[in-house]
Amino acid sequence: MDVAHSISGSGSKRATEAGWWIEPAFTAAAFTAFVVYSVWEIFFHVQGRYENYLSPYFSPDVAAWLHIHLWPALWVAWVPLLFRATCYYYRREYYRAYFWSPPACAVPDRTRRYVGETRPPMSWTALHRFFLYLSLAVVAFLWVDAVQAFDFRGRFGIGAGSLILLADAGLLSLYTFSCHAFRHLVGGHLDCYSCRGRPRFRYRLWTLVSDLNRRHGLFAWASMFWVWGTDLFVRLLIAGRLHDLRWF
Ligand code: FES
Repeated sequence: MDVAHSISGSGSKRATEAGWWIEPAFTAAAFTAFVVYSVWEIFFHVQGRYENYLSPYFSPDVAAWLHIHLWPALWVAWVPLLFRATCYYYRREYYRAYFWSPPACAVPDRTRRYVGETRPPMSWTALHRFFLYLSLAVVAFLWVDAVQAFDFRGRFGIGAGSLILLADAGLLSLYTFSCHAFRHLVGGHLDCYSCRGRPRFRYRLWTLVSDLNRRHGLFAWASMFWVWGTDLFVRLLIAGRLHDLRWF
């Protein structure tokens, strides 16, 4: 019985090892599709609002504030896109998917000499914390958009778009506040949380962010697909291909 269990266990382990390419292949397909969609959205559309729904690609509406009509999404979308491109979790994923460096755990590096991010072109990813600061402002605007999504010409209402934009702000908040750089921001630069009567607030905050941080990969994927879906929803409403559901 034990031997049989042991044999079947090693067999499934071998199967798992043999399928190491599935994760990088899925990542490469998903990231490529997302980037292609984002380029299409940013460079081929000038309208990101349908009534009280604003696409996350166009929020905040910097282009309208500045009266710019060329690629309005570009003026803000570069912040969340570069925030994702420099994310520690995404870096691990796209290093595996695109550079095969290494392609998976226990699979040898396919590049000649690993230099990591110690030199250009990848050393720029060290700017991640600065994109975090900018993304915190973007998340605040997304919450404003989520609230406005319940405001139908001055009257409270709930439509499908209201709930979609609310979930979008929630998932992007989870992704942003579970960031490794944010964890360092709230809990870093301290040798001791309780020394010299320091308030415990930062420790509690750091504990909370650490809990979120454990699910950062999940939030990264969920928020990416949700942003994508939210934008597509608004895009289809603008094009008249979809009608919003209203409950109130
Ligand atoms: Fe992923 Fe900062 S580490 S967003």
